[in-house]
Amino acid sequence: MKREEILSDLDWRYATKGFNTEESIDEKDYQTIKEAIRLAPTSYGLQPFKIIEIESREIRTQLQTAGYGQKQIVSASKLIAIASLKCFNDQLIDRYINLSKETRSLKEDQVSGYRNFIKNVFSHWSVDEKKSWSEKQAYIALGFAMLAAAELKVDTCALEGIDVQQVNEILKLKSSDYNVSVLLALGKRAEEDQSQHLKKVRLDASVLFETI
Ligand SMILES: Cc1cc2nc3c(=O)[nH]c(=O)nc-3n(C[C@H](O)[C@H](O)[C@H](O)COP(=O)(O)O)c2cc1C
Repeated sequence: MKREEILSDLDWRYATKGFNTEESIDEKDYQTIKEAIRLAPTSYGLQPFKIIEIESREIRTQLQTAGYGQKQIVSASKLIAIASLKCFNDQLIDRYINLSKETRSLKEDQVSGYRNFIKNVFSHWSVDEKKSWSEKQAYIALGFAMLAAAELKVDTCALEGIDVQQVNEILKLKSSDYNVSVLLALGKRAEEDQSQHLKKVRLDASVLFETI
């Protein structure tokens, strides 16, 4: 039953520390996870981030150093970085509205009100507020990727334990509008990774949820 499957997949997944270096992710599974990221919703639909797929072994090794030696960075089959916009202007809104027009065959007078509305909202925001908002959107994409991966029985580890400045430098983001938010390692768990046998540590629903 779908309901039980979802919960059992979420119980099956865990923050994988040891990846099997011999096994690669099925390419179709990987493409499905990428599509889940693309389909992830974002506030106003603006998708203020990009995904960097890190194939270079040399860059992975450099990233491991910037990630305090965490071995998932080099041992996972795939490694992606979700980099969110640290600053943006009206162009971001125009990109979305113009794409909406094209996708839904709309005329300017059908979108101009919304275009101006969104521009007006962001015009009151500080650079820090925009940066923090973009990062939140990036984490929605991360969640979608991890859930899709779990459903496909692909193991993942989100990695926030990184020196952001160093990672930005390695990924050549320093002089760009982007800032790395989080890395995601994907692959197959190693049989000997003991973390997979640990019980989940989660708050009781009575603590986590409240009704008013
Ligand atoms: C955004 C995010 C960042 C994380 N960063 C790291 C990390 O840098 N290194 C690591 O080993 N685990 C990292 N984790 C894994 C968490 O510690 C783990 O998901 C949490 O303890 C719950 O355990 P579980 O995922 O095994 O159920 C991260 C998880 C998330 C969601």
